[in-house]
Order: sequence, then structure tokens, then C-alpha cells
Amino acid sequence: MTNKSVIKNVNEHVGESVVIGCWVNNKRSSGKIQFLQLRDGTGYIQGVVVKSEVPEEVWDAAKSLTQESSLYVTGIIREEPRSQSGFEMTVTGIEVLHLTENYPITPKEHGVDFLMDHRHLWLRASKQRAVLVIRAEIIRAIQQFFNESGFTKVDPPILTPTSAEGTTNLFHTKYFDEDAYLTQSGQLYMEAAAMALGRVYSFGPTFRAEKSKTRRHLIEFWMIEPEMAFTDHEESLKVQEEFISFVVQSVLKNCRAELEAVGRDISKLENIKAPFPRITYDDAIKFLNDKGFEDIAWGDDFGAPHETAIAEAYDKPVFITHYPASFKAFYMKPDPNRPEVVLCADMIAPEGYGEIIGGSQRIDDPALLEERYKEHNLSMDSYKWYMDLRTYGSVPHSGFGLGLERTVAWICGLDHVRETIPFPRTLYRLYP
Ligand code: 4AD
Ligand code: MG
Repeated sequence: MTNKSVIKNVNEHVGESVVIGCWVNNKRSSGKIQFLQLRDGTGYIQGVVVKSEVPEEVWDAAKSLTQESSLYVTGIIREEPRSQSGFEMTVTGIEVLHLTENYPITPKEHGVDFLMDHRHLWLRASKQRAVLVIRAEIIRAIQQFFNESGFTKVDPPILTPTSAEGTTNLFHTKYFDEDAYLTQSGQLYMEAAAMALGRVYSFGPTFRAEKSKTRRHLIEFWMIEPEMAFTDHEESLKVQEEFISFVVQSVLKNCRAELEAVGRDISKLENIKAPFPRITYDDAIKFLNDKGFEDIAWGDDFGAPHETAIAEAYDKPVFITHYPASFKAFYMKPDPNRPEVVLCADMIAPEGYGEIIGGSQRIDDPALLEERYKEHNLSMDSYKWYMDLRTYGSVPHSGFGLGLERTVAWICGLDHVRETIPFPRTLYRLYP
């Protein structure tokens, strides 16, 4: 009897006959032998069809196959040290499911716009598949880390009545008769959850109507937002560096083949182990000025070139800490020794990938929070529930947000975040 298998598991079937549902990635022929490059999503295998050893209809079926045709292939699995996977199949049967004509993505080079228009098909390419496998491993490792560190997963809402991170890039929608916005960040709700459950994390989509067309910006991206009661800024940084080390080491352990398929320089990732270096905002400004950047002074936010220049000084992610309160979010706690700066940090990834984490200790004093509401023109009514977290049993607490797509771009070594998510939403793209 022939068992159904998937390519990933053929090592369990050496010497046996198996049937595999698959697509034709490519095909080559040398007259009396046809070599089918087959893929089924779990991996790749070469099927060898020998004219003198198969019935004529099997030979003809193999001949009819085109790129991306679908089939059930039956054959004997053999060890084959010369093949990349270590295995090959001697084909004995072919059931064609669908013959594809004129598959638009051919082995020749295509432009990015063309590929993005065909994103629904481009996902089948080996590099795109590898990126999605690595993305899934990163998500798995993230959840493992937090689940094993005493965090409970909590899901904040996606439709919200107010903003969390300023109003400039809110996505507006109607909520029956009321105005509503797609969430920019679940943080404020996660603070409520931390007061109920201690240590919590969320993982979900977030939206920013950002008119930025850079290689780091998406309109819809996924964020992981841990929030920790009874935790100060310093303790939060320790969690962050342990967390990122764990995720990178998990990918190295579980996705070797995929990292190779995306062409990643693995040695650069092997080094990503806690602790990570830290530099204050003050020192970062001095460093940049010394490097010849004259376009930035104390009080300015960093642009991508500044972040890249700072990151280049290190071979691990670096924390930039203690930014001026003036351009950071309303909820960040001032440094008690220097109230013009806040207890916050951005984690900047190496190799020019920019900020992957933004985090801070939160204001726990109700009077100060009220002052901030006024400075930021936030309505006391809309944010009353958030003030309640300080009115009833306020505690020191901290949290942070990791951008999933920037993390995937960095770990995979990709040029642009648009390849890190199955269907990217960018400034000029809502299709497919
Ligand atoms: O620094 P941000 O804006 O921080 C927050 O939203 C906080 N409320 C998080 C928290 O403390 N709970 O965003 C966090 C991260 C950034 O470091 C970046 O990695 C990612 O989200 N990010 C984006 N990724 C892709 N496209 C965009 N437009 C992004 N904006 C932010
Ligand atoms: Mg930020």
C-alpha cells in the first residue's frame, strides 16, 4: 500500500512507495529521463522519471507537466547524497490535477512592482516561502518566551475611540454614529491588563496611516506588546535583551535551511546574545556630531541615517535611552533626576534595520499624568479610564512594543519590510 506523505517527511520513508500532492517548480529532460523539481510547501524534492521503467502514460503525463502544474506523484524514496535535501524520488505514477498554462512568474528577473501585483503567486517562490517560515518561527519563539516567563497573553481591541501614540497617523472610521480609529498600539489597554494579571503581552495587527514610503514602514504591521506591573525601566531592558536573544537563537536553531535560502550571513546572527550595549540620547547626539552629522542637535529626533550610524558602532542591537520628553509619548515617566528626559529606550537593530523596539516606564503619578493630558490636549473624558489605573492602586510599571516585520527583515537580511508579511499594506498598495 502507498502512503501519503509530505516532502519534509520523506526521510521516514526511504525504500518505500509514497504519494505526494505537489506542484512543478521546474523541469529538465535528457531524452530518456525527465527530472521534475517538485515542491509541496514543506520542501523540495527531485522526481526522476525513467522512460524505460514507467508505463507510457506516466512518461507522457510527465512530459505534459508545466511550471506550477499540480499533481499527485507516486514513487520510491531513495537517499541521494548529491541532492540538496539528501533524498530523491524514483517516479512510478503521476496523476495530473491541473495543467498550468503561462504562469506569469518565470525564472527570469521581474521588477518588484510586477512581483507585488502577483504577490498571491509570488509567495510560492522559494525565498518568499523561506521568509514566511522564518516569520512563523519568530512568532512561535516570541510566544514561547513570554509563556515561559510568566506572562499571560491578552488581546486588546482593534477598534478604539482614542489614539495611543499621537493623532497624526490615525486611521479614521465610523463606529455607527461615533468616530473610531484602528488601533495604533494596544499599550494603554495592556496597562489595564497588567494591573489585573501582573505580566501580560499582546500580539496583533496595528495600523498607522503614515505617509512614509521607506523600507521600514508599513501601514498595517504586527506588534508584540508586553506590559509588566512592579517593573522599572532597567528591569524592562533586561527582559528586552533576553527576549531578542532568545528569538534570534531559536531561528538559528530551527530555520537553518530557510536562512540559507534567503542568503542570510548567519555569523552576524550568532553573536546576538544578551547583554546588549546602551547609549544615552545625550551621548548619541555627541557621537553623531563627532561623526560629522551637523543636521542634528539636542532636542531633535533621529532619522534613519542617524540610527544607522549609531547601530554601525556595534555588532549587537543597541539601546538608546533617556530621550527628551518633548517628542516622546505622553505616558512616559520622566527621569526623577532630570525631568526633561524620560525613562525610555529604543532598541536599534544592527546592519541598518533601525528601531525594532520602543519602550518605557509609564507615569504612575495621577497628578503628573493629568498635567500631560493638558499639555497634549487629551480629553479628560476620553482618557478617564486610563487615569483610573493611577487612581486605584497605581504601581510602577513598564512595557515595550516590538515591530514584527522590522524584526523579520533584520533576521532574514531583507532590503525592505514589504517582503516580511504575506500581503503588505504600503502607502501605494492595497492590492492584492
Ligand atoms: O515605537 P512605537 O510607536 O511604540 C509604541 O507603539 C508603544 N506603544 C509600544 C509599547 O510601549 N507598548 O512602535 C513600536 C515598534 C517600533 O519600534 C517599530 O519596530 C514598529 O513598532 N513600528 C513599525 N513597523 C512597521 N511599520 C511602521 N509604520 C511602524 N511603526 C512602528
Ligand atoms: Mg518608536
